[in-house]
Amino acid sequence: MRLILLGAPGAGKGTQATFIKEKFNIPQISTGDMLRAAVAAGTELGIAAKKVMDAGGLVSDDIIIGLVKDRLQQSDCANGYLFDGFPRTTRQADAMKEAGVAIDYVLEIDVPDSAIVERMSGRRVHPGSGRTYHVKFNPPKAEGRDDATGEALIQRDDDKEETVKKRLAVYHDQTEVLLGYYGDWAKSGQPGAPKYRKIAGVGPVEEIRDRAFAALAE
Ligand code: AP5
Ligand code: ZN
Repeated sequence: MRLILLGAPGAGKGTQATFIKEKFNIPQISTGDMLRAAVAAGTELGIAAKKVMDAGGLVSDDIIIGLVKDRLQQSDCANGYLFDGFPRTTRQADAMKEAGVAIDYVLEIDVPDSAIVERMSGRRVHPGSGRTYHVKFNPPKAEGRDDATGEALIQRDDDKEETVKKRLAVYHDQTEVLLGYYGDWAKSGQPGAPKYRKIAGVGPVEEIRDRAFAALAE
């Protein structure tokens, strides 16, 4: 299974990626998680990326495309992969097409902007694994602790209301165009075109998981 999860910031890409990667036994390639790991490690890339991320902008296409191409060389991608938060611009999508990176499904998770800020303000993350919780909608078993490791959860620096609004604007401006990009490609019936599936992303997490699994079985 080779798929792309598309959706606004806070649509639940990371949350649903956890279920999908386990079901299909594929790695999750989250460019956001990769950048946050670089920030935590204090690398040159991390220092540069942090400024852009904290401002709610997008890291340069060349850097992101390079990171993803390198990641795809690793042996765990032989069985498939799940892209989470990538591609985010037409240039990133074109780069994957040109490199012949195969995609079976594009799954769009649709959530209205009005639901996003509340989701972000209650989000808590386990930095080691990227596992994501919400204080109200998806609480961990022990408050402030990751279910699997018991380690402390943190809040992301870019989850402040102002930054969330900026990220949403950037999504509408630069990423939303990819819904049509992949939708049209899917409709074209060209060899190698992916299947395009759209699911509603509002409701209990497990219900959305079931919708996603059903969409990926069609
Ligand atoms: P990235 O980490 O990709 O962030 P994002 O796309 O903005 O998406 P999020 O991770 O915020 O949301 P999500 O859809 O994963 O939702 P989640 O499951 O966590 O990118 C961060 C930054 O890195 C970017 O701003 C950019 O600067 C840079 N970057 C990354 N990739 C890049 C690229 N390709 N090109 C350029 N720059 C790039 O859920 C959110 C919350 O809602 C959680 O608390 C969760 O528990 C809760 N929730 C989930 N589902 C539900 C539900 N059904 N009901 C209620 N609450 C729910
Ligand atoms: Zn995410």
